[in-house]
Amino acid sequence: MITGGAGFIGANFAHYWLAQYPQDRVVVLDALTYAGNMASLAGCLELENFRFVHGDIGDQDLVETLLAEEGLDTVVNFAAESHVDRSIHGPDPFVTTNVVGTHSLLKAAKKVWLDGGGRPHRFHHVSTDEVYGSLTSEEPPFTETSPYAPNSPYSASKAASDHLVRAYHHTYGLEVTTSNCSNNYGPYQFPEKLIPLIILNLLEAKPLPIYGDGLNIRDWLYVEDHCRGIDLVLRKGRVGEVYNIGGNNEWRNIEIVRLVCSLVDERLAASESLRQRFPRSPVCQGHTAESLITFVKDRPGHDRRYAIDAAKSRNELEYAPLESFETGIRKTIDWYLANETWWRAVMNGSYRDWLEKQYA
Ligand code: NAD
Ligand code: TYD
Repeated sequence: MITGGAGFIGANFAHYWLAQYPQDRVVVLDALTYAGNMASLAGCLELENFRFVHGDIGDQDLVETLLAEEGLDTVVNFAAESHVDRSIHGPDPFVTTNVVGTHSLLKAAKKVWLDGGGRPHRFHHVSTDEVYGSLTSEEPPFTETSPYAPNSPYSASKAASDHLVRAYHHTYGLEVTTSNCSNNYGPYQFPEKLIPLIILNLLEAKPLPIYGDGLNIRDWLYVEDHCRGIDLVLRKGRVGEVYNIGGNNEWRNIEIVRLVCSLVDERLAASESLRQRFPRSPVCQGHTAESLITFVKDRPGHDRRYAIDAAKSRNELEYAPLESFETGIRKTIDWYLANETWWRAVMNGSYRDWLEKQYA
């Protein structure tokens, strides 16, 4: 069961998993909040061994029924409220889904997998490097033993869920693993996050907002490398353990934005048909994309730097990212250029039509 499988990483994981293990039964459970998008599961929905269930991880009865009736032995929990800025403006859904929802999922898993006499199972929890707080430029990257020091309502809610997952292992013997990953980028990412926001804003000649001085650092990982890392944890990870997954790829925000600007400029300059499709883009107007960069008010409590030390995953699981930032960011830009229908539907809200039709 992939919870949150209509979101950015969950959908990538569903595609990845079905490509790797085409015989497996896969059930996606997703509440389809604003971040869930059925179009991201195109290609999966038609498969006989795939089932989509519209539902909430907090619905314990539903999860118990699905685990039991479908005979599911693995949960990979992606379901979450995931955007730091939203957590600042409205933290409640973060506590409801990330803390209470994850706890409900754990209770359902315990009941079906342990209380009924015990059967082979794995509960994998997908978490973030943000639980470790913020680094100075001199500090070494986060390891699995770095102390938790979450600073935003988002990271605090993820930290709480990590602790509950740990507790269900130590107290009840639930067979859990947790992975803490750095910032992801790639196909199907909702365009409120930095990289898709920049790509799409610049195609439409909208300002490219940089918070504060733009010198905050994130450690970026191509989403498929994250999916491969989770697969390795599921297959080779030790029960009860935590694994950091990262790209060893630290960038200042302003540098990323400049890179995306120059790569999109390059793609448009080389293609007449792209220029026709995006006539408002800076290249078509005789400007560079960088001219759209706009420094705006900083995010409150903005963490300065995240960086992951993935040595444990590398040594125990033989984890190594396949994409370099150069290849991954080009693939991502190409994906957004090739999938205009997907992001136009997000921008104009029509990606929500599935829900309306379903419940009409
Ligand atoms: P996302 O916001 O794109 O997707 C979240 C999905 O969860 C959506 O489809 C949404 O509809 C669903 N969802 C929300 N509440 C739900 C609920 N109560 N029940 C069922 N489904 C629900 O997020 P994402 O970027 O794909 O992140 C997925 C997971 O990975 C999250 O747990 C996040 O904390 C973690 N993570 C993300 C990143 C990143 O860079 N995006 C990095 C590290 C870890
Ligand atoms: P984001 O993609 O929201 O991920 P996170 O906050 O989980 O790291 O933001 C990545 C970085 O980019 C973060 O330092 C905030 C910054 N940022 C901007 O400068 N402008 C923006 O419009 C957004 C969305 C983010």
